[in-house]
Amino acid sequence: MPKTKRNKRFEVLENRPVHKDGFIGEWVDVGLYAMGSPNDPKPSIKIENGKVVEMDGVRREDFNMNEQFVADYAIDLAMAPKAMAMSEQEIAHMLVDINVPRTECTKVMQGLTPAKIAGVMDKLDIAEIILAMHKMRTRGKPGNQAHITSATDNPVLLVADAAEGALRGFLEVETTVAVVRYAPLNALSLLIGSQTGRPGTLTQCSLEEAFELQIGMRGLTAYAETISVYGTENVFIDGDDTPWSKAFLASCYASRGLKMRFTSGTGSEVQMGAAEGKSMLYLEVLCIMLTKGAGVQGLQNGSISCIGVPGAVPSGLRAVAAENLVTTALDLEVASGNDQTFSHSDLRRTARTMPQFFAGTDFVFSGYSGVPNYDNMFAGSNWDIEDEDDYLALQRDFKVDGGNRPVLEADVVAVRNKAARALQAVYRELGFPPITDEEVELATYANGSKDITPRNIPEDLKAAERLLKEGINGASVVKALAKGGFEDIAKNVLMMLKQRISGDYLQTSSWVAKDGYVWSAVNDPNTYTGPGTGYQLSPERWEEIKNIPWAIRPEDV
Ligand code: 5AD
Ligand code: CA
Repeated sequence: MPKTKRNKRFEVLENRPVHKDGFIGEWVDVGLYAMGSPNDPKPSIKIENGKVVEMDGVRREDFNMNEQFVADYAIDLAMAPKAMAMSEQEIAHMLVDINVPRTECTKVMQGLTPAKIAGVMDKLDIAEIILAMHKMRTRGKPGNQAHITSATDNPVLLVADAAEGALRGFLEVETTVAVVRYAPLNALSLLIGSQTGRPGTLTQCSLEEAFELQIGMRGLTAYAETISVYGTENVFIDGDDTPWSKAFLASCYASRGLKMRFTSGTGSEVQMGAAEGKSMLYLEVLCIMLTKGAGVQGLQNGSISCIGVPGAVPSGLRAVAAENLVTTALDLEVASGNDQTFSHSDLRRTARTMPQFFAGTDFVFSGYSGVPNYDNMFAGSNWDIEDEDDYLALQRDFKVDGGNRPVLEADVVAVRNKAARALQAVYRELGFPPITDEEVELATYANGSKDITPRNIPEDLKAAERLLKEGINGASVVKALAKGGFEDIAKNVLMMLKQRISGDYLQTSSWVAKDGYVWSAVNDPNTYTGPGTGYQLSPERWEEIKNIPWAIRPEDV
């Protein structure tokens, strides 16, 4: 057959978006292997005098630092003999069995070694992983988190987008920067915008760890989550860190009343070239256990910024869902990824999200882009604000609570405008570069940074420096809002400052309601034990999800 003559259908297929994605076969030695690699350790545990002396075939004297930390802090030694004696099949069965309550499962899971947990996951197919996640998620009500960033760090746009994100139902909104020195102003915009859109919304400014801790202590942010842990010692040390230093940092946040979770995810070790030939899921299980051992309440995982790696190998997206499941099964809050773009194919990027969406997780996205793709400074999310009506349709199609709510254009316009005016007043009170009425108007009606005028960046950066130097904090913001005529928003920000002191939102899987009441896995635990149990949509919530504004209403026909 002539080689040059092409079949028309194959030509069509090759021009489809999926052909722009990277795919690679399993490559055991470099760790390009999703789960169940022939190189993965075989499960074992030996305990002597209350200490693990052997784990997964490695003797204590040969432990690397991750293994030592996990063996010392992340395994329930009282449970281990019984749990490790169960077969992987039995434990996998238990996770999907609606007759075994979640709390029984978490007890057994906490008695297992990393290799055993990875082995259990490999017994589950994707439908079973979804069912198990549905049962094992810590909190009853699922939620969602958004990225709110701007390609130009425009403070007026950020405050408006944060307000809109909060109104759309995101329980947490987080930002990062295009230009590092803008960070304090981005944090300020998120604080004011979020408390305008829905009081109680938690905010974060993802940056270098010492800076994050400082602005958190000042009351300008409410949580931190990009504290990374890694599965191999080489990769961990590359970032100058150890499990002990991360645990110390975690307690710094918590002791100052800040919610915190770690970040990890399949593929990071391969991407950094030191996977030691182990499967991505096995290394990720180590990370989840490090998180547990550090006493942290939750984890952002699901590959996160490395999603292209598991996305390229066989069974990779199944492994990503499995890592979310392991997090919940170890009784940790999960912010389940879906936060970085990985595919050119709309079909694939939708499919990637469905396990977490159908199961319901504490935060289905650990970063749904609340802004257009070109404004997303977290390197672009798997879903953007321009996909939001598709998302609302999916919630309605499947009667699923994905954490978002339909909104009316008039309400969005009103809340964006109010937030922009509040920031204008705060800038005026603090003596920051003025925000003009025209900027307020543009941000009110904008989709993204292409629709607004540029700021005087050097002047803004001087204000950012002043904020840091002069010790401007949450209380300064409350005062400025009140003086500037926004007493209601001032009260909301003050409520958030009080949360730092009561510390209730340090409980597992917390979110703060608009009246300041803290919901978490403690007072809203997931009690799923089969059809009709666990979290149910209230009639009001279902009405809300049903009523997408653009659907034809029979009563109007
Ligand atoms: N493992 C560990 N940390 C990660 N991050 C993103 N993906 C991973 C991963 N797979 C962290 C990094 C990054 C932030 C957005 O989240 O710290 O800067
Ligand atoms: Ca996030």
